[in-house]
Amino acid sequence: MKTQVAIIGAGPSGLLLGQLLHNAGISNVIVERQSPDYVLGRIRAGVLEQGMVDLLREAGVGERMVAEGLPHDGFELAFDGRREHIDLKGLTGGKGVMIYGQTEVTRDLMAARQACGAVTVYEATNVQPHEPKSEQPWLTYEKDGQVHRLDCDYIAGCDGYHGVARQSIPADALKVFERVYPFGWLGILADTPPVNEELVYARHERGFALCSMRSPTRTRYYVQVGADEKVEDWSDERFWDELKTRLPAELAERLVTGPSIEKSIAPLRSFVVEPMQYGRMFLVGDAAHIVPPTGAKGLNLAASDVSTLFNILRRVYAEGRTDLLEQYSSICLRRIWKAERFSWWMTSILHRFPDSDPFSQRIQQTELDYFVSSEAGRKTLAENYVGLPYEAIADA
Ligand code: APR
Ligand code: PHB
Repeated sequence: MKTQVAIIGAGPSGLLLGQLLHNAGISNVIVERQSPDYVLGRIRAGVLEQGMVDLLREAGVGERMVAEGLPHDGFELAFDGRREHIDLKGLTGGKGVMIYGQTEVTRDLMAARQACGAVTVYEATNVQPHEPKSEQPWLTYEKDGQVHRLDCDYIAGCDGYHGVARQSIPADALKVFERVYPFGWLGILADTPPVNEELVYARHERGFALCSMRSPTRTRYYVQVGADEKVEDWSDERFWDELKTRLPAELAERLVTGPSIEKSIAPLRSFVVEPMQYGRMFLVGDAAHIVPPTGAKGLNLAASDVSTLFNILRRVYAEGRTDLLEQYSSICLRRIWKAERFSWWMTSILHRFPDSDPFSQRIQQTELDYFVSSEAGRKTLAENYVGLPYEAIADA
């Protein structure tokens, strides 16, 4: 089989890139290790920046998101018995975010791909990129007991943190930046009405808590837990009790509890590799970077990588501008590092660190107090939360 762009991974990065390329007349094949149901069974992020909303619409998959997504103009920070509203819209000149689950984004992208007839090979094992430094790279994979070869012009490694694309690059060609946090997030999904109209990020001496949602009848709540906690030790009752303890009293009182329909623990990590290109292979989304979820940036960074790679490839095919390819990594990394900084900072001020002393706790409280009591501080929070602008491809 031959295609122009071979995409490894059918998560949001791979599917969105594939759709944009297909619409622009650039052929692509996606090779995915899992089945569609498995991919859709993963419960992930739920906050879309305006830039991602616009990109999904550009890709022609925005209809259900516009109809069913919940536009949010602000969020709340809760700490020291206070509830502080951050007016995203007012502070950013009209920008907000959209609450729409990654699972739904993925479902819409899968449906669009099926409708347009582009090829996705699911349940492909042992995917391997070959000769990315040459003019004619290719992939091999196994399916139904046979080895297949996919020839291409470019490879897009959209295969997430555990994927093969980054791992196939010689270690001395990459620089890795990493921080592992000494805690995780225990999250549950429940068919209960949200406790608050807006998201609530809460700092408490027992640890961080977050009240999020997927719809007016489905909630997604999180509590910070120790890195070695086991999900089996968390009954629904224990989770709800802990969440209530960490929320301001008036929210705890009106919290509606119910049986969980999903419950899992995710570790928190910051991770970046540089560069995000190796010859004709490009790393996109989680394959190149991870952020802790505190700033809601993971999925949105995947979208800005996709936008950058798509806009370069479009010009490569339309205008022969192969010189633009070398801009991919540096354009992406400038935006990625700003989101890494914001996610690290949000994590640092809102979580309880096992080694924290009274001095660092006062500093945390004071950072929150300072940022919400200063107009400049609120603006800084808001402009980062709604998402920094996408950088254009330089023409030179
Ligand atoms: N071969 C083929 N497919 C693979 C391989 C492999 N060796 N390894 C991983 N994959 C697939 C995974 O099964 C998954 O479907 O690649 C896909 C990667 O998807 P994600 O992990 O969702 O990564 P990405 O598409 O970059 O999405 C961005 O943002 O909110 C965050 O982490 C969240 O998933 C989200 C991410
Ligand atoms: C979520 O709804 O899953 C969510 C929302 C905001 C975050 C992280 C996760 O910062």
